[in-house]
Amino acid sequence: MQKARIFSVVMALLFGATGGSALAADAAKGEKVFKKCKACHSLEAGKNKVGPSLHGVIDREAGAVEGYKYSKAMMAAGVTWDDASLDAYLTKPKDFVKGTKMAFPGLKKEADREDVIAYLKENAM
Ligand code: HEC
Repeated sequence: MQKARIFSVVMALLFGATGGSALAADAAKGEKVFKKCKACHSLEAGKNKVGPSLHGVIDREAGAVEGYKYSKAMMAAGVTWDDASLDAYLTKPKDFVKGTKMAFPGLKKEADREDVIAYLKENAM
């Protein structure tokens, strides 16, 4: 009995610990969030859809995919896509880059944004 109790306490602590890390950005969840982006974005290099290919987008300057016709606003944005700028853009694209032609309202949940950015980091490079 005693051993079983100790075991369950240990398990509870372990689960507590992994439960905590589930709050961190999760690329697997991000893959699901990315379904919302897929209609317009591919992760394949050179494959532009309605939106530019997001291949290699991390740490790249905004508006840098060759052969893709960006809005003037995006060309003039002068941002590099990192955690902070992606988070801001994906919260409300039209607020962060006024005049962007990305017709996407934004991801309201911070966790969704963190997860999709983690997904991009793992899969768009
Ligand atoms: C309805 C189509 C559409 C959807 C959905 C969409 N985008 Fe876009 N996205 C665009 C377009 C169009 C542009 C180009 C914007 C411009 O030139 O102003 C763009 C631009 C971007 C850029 C800048 C790329 C660069 O090369 O500078 C990023 C990053 C981006 N989108 C990420 C996302 C993510 C992540 C999602 C999903 C959460 C998403 N987009 C959903 C159409 C879309």
